[in-house]
Formats: sequence, C-alpha cells, structure tokens
Amino acid sequence: MTKLPKDIGINTLLAHAGHDPNDYHGFVNPPVVHASTVLFPDTETMLSRNQRYTYGTRGTPTTDALASAVDALEGSAGTICVPSGLAAVTIPLLAFLSSGDHLLCVDSVYNPTRRFADGLLKRMGIETTYYEPEMGADIERLIRPNTKVVWTESPGSNTFEMQDIPAICEVAHRHDAIVMMDNTWATPLYFKPLDFGVDISIHAATKYPGGHSDVLLGLVSANERCWTQLHDTHITMGCCSGPDDVYQVQRGLKTMGIRLDRHQKSALEIARWCEGQDGIASVLHPALPSHPGYDLWKRDFSGSSGLFSIVLDGGGQDAAAAFLDALTIFGLGYSWGGHESLAVLVNLSDRTVARGDYGGSVIRLQIGLEDPADLVADLERGLAAVKALD
Ligand SMILES: Cc1ncc(COP(=O)(O)O)c(C=O)c1O
Repeated sequence: MTKLPKDIGINTLLAHAGHDPNDYHGFVNPPVVHASTVLFPDTETMLSRNQRYTYGTRGTPTTDALASAVDALEGSAGTICVPSGLAAVTIPLLAFLSSGDHLLCVDSVYNPTRRFADGLLKRMGIETTYYEPEMGADIERLIRPNTKVVWTESPGSNTFEMQDIPAICEVAHRHDAIVMMDNTWATPLYFKPLDFGVDISIHAATKYPGGHSDVLLGLVSANERCWTQLHDTHITMGCCSGPDDVYQVQRGLKTMGIRLDRHQKSALEIARWCEGQDGIASVLHPALPSHPGYDLWKRDFSGSSGLFSIVLDGGGQDAAAAFLDALTIFGLGYSWGGHESLAVLVNLSDRTVARGDYGGSVIRLQIGLEDPADLVADLERGLAAVKALD
C-alpha cells in the first residue's frame, strides 16, 4: 500500500491508493497474478503458513491492490473481492446469519437480494421482515431478540427512497444487530457508510468502479468488529474472483472520480429537464428538492450518481413500450454505471410494504458519458412516441 499524505483530494487518492510501485520493480500498475499454487521455501513454512501468500483463493498481489485501495476509500479494516455484486450481497448475509436468526430488510431493496432472503435464507431457517424505507429510529418496533442484521440500501433500487442511516445504526447497535448497506449507487465517493455507523459496506463494483459494462465484480468492506468473521466466511466459501476482473476494477477506480462527476452533472441536468416536460408526471432523483428524501440526501451525501427514474404521466405498459422503443441512444438493458446510457421499465410488484402508487409507468434511466443534449433529444423522441398514441 502506497503511503500517502493526509488530507489529499479524492482524485489524488484514487490515482495513488492501492498498489505501491516500489513493491513491483517500479511498475505503476499492479501485476495480474494468475495463481492457484504458491510455493513455500521449506516444510516448516509450509506447515506454519507463515508467509504473505499461501494459495490463490486466499489473496494475491492483485486482489490486495484493489482491496487496499477500497479500504482507503471506505475507511474499512478489510475488503473482500467476490465474483459479482450479487455475491457481495449474499456472502456477508451468510457470514452473519444462522438458523433461527431474523433479518430486517428494506422493502425497496434490489430484487435479487429479496430473492436470496425469501429463498435460500428462508430454507436455512432465517426469517426476513421487510420495512418501509422511510423508517428511521422507528425501526426499533420491528427489532426482535433474534434480529442479527439490518439490511439497508439508500437510495432504494429503482424508486430512490432515502434512508436515515445513522438513526437505523443507533437502534440496531443498541440491540446488538449489525447494519449492512448496499452502497452501490453513491460509491464511497459520495457516501461513506462506515463513517455513519454502518458495519459492512457493499458494492456491485460491476457498476461505477468497473465503469465500462464489461466486468462483473463485488466488493465487501467491513469495520474492525466484523472483519474477521467476514474474511473467514469468504475463505471458507472459496468465493474468490478472477485476477483479470480484479485488475480491471482497480484500473477503473483510477478514473472513477472524473467519470462520476460527469455522470452526476449530466444526470442532474437531464433530471431537471425531465421535471418540466409534458408527459412526465414526476422525477425520482434524491438530489432534486422535489424528492421526499432530498433533506436526508443533502444531510448525509456529498454527491449523486447517474441513476434515477421518471414516472410517465399515465398510459400503462403500452405507453412505456412506445417510449422505450423510440429511444435510439439509450439501450434497453439491465445494470448501470457504464459509459453508455440505459433505460428499463421498472417492476415494483415484489414490494410488500412500500407499495406506493406512482400513477404511471416508472422508467429507470442510467445516464452515461454521452453528450447530454443527445440524450435529451432521445428522451424527446420517446415522449413524442407516447403522445402519438393519443
Ligand atoms: C443495487 C445493486 N446491488 C447489487 C447489484 C448486483 O450486481 P451484479 O450485477 O454485479 O451482480 C446490482 C445490479 O444491478 C444493483 O443494482
């Protein structure tokens, strides 16, 4: 790990955190170590495992370069690299929940997290209660003696509800539960979960850290209290990630600050434009003063990324399909955080308590690195196609 002065700017940190060139012949970038076997110099070292690297599943100079860069960003005691963002969700849950435990999970959660809780965790005898995203300290009334984990995701997937993370952490810790947060939307550049009391911060590095829609990776960062248990579970499960993917994400981190700045500016410009359009009933973007979570966003976050939703002004699925099919620059596809803009029709039928009626189809937009004027022109094509249905 490079020794860096204190109080440097975030882009300086991104450019230099992680790999120290002096550790590898002066090369600016870390080596991509393809490894299973690591040799020991003698039997004694082999038996005691008393050397830095012992086997490919247990870490390499490549995973260390990424993990230590992420620790510097998150302020964490340790970070594991796993093969996808979804694995970054499932592994910490498996690490901290046992049969008979209770999980509290925000209802606006990323759908595959819900599928994991309702499927595999349920089969293991772990019960999940979904709670309203707007619930802060009031979450106390849902806590049971066996509640071990509170799962948060702020803003929420697709509809961008903000959570009062410090209030939730205070309650959870008083009841000896730990708090995990899917922080993919903000990245540690715009929100540092551990500074607000969260124990485990989770990222689909597939999104902004990777940044180019060509790699799947997950990152899980823990505070001192949770690190050993998380790390042990990671090793026990053998759920390590490939060196090329890890390398690509550490490479992506170097430009993440400037990319996010661009995503942020373009998304805000386009979201503000959307607010004034006929055919759009509302815009769900937490950094807009019209959003119900704006005050929480402003209090805790230092920026916003490139993902938000619009609600069409009535019209049902036909209108949504007309809108989406008229787009030529926005691609129709899942995921986000890459260089290219994407649009998806949001399905909210999985919600159990946060069943808000938005009054029209919700369309999620990932604003990429293209020129905003071209994206606005594309959205105009979509709105014109909906109008043409009248
Ligand atoms: C909020 C959130 N968390 C986790 C994931 C999972 O990431 P991955 O696609 O790398 O499995 C996603 C993917 O869309 C996501 O949106």
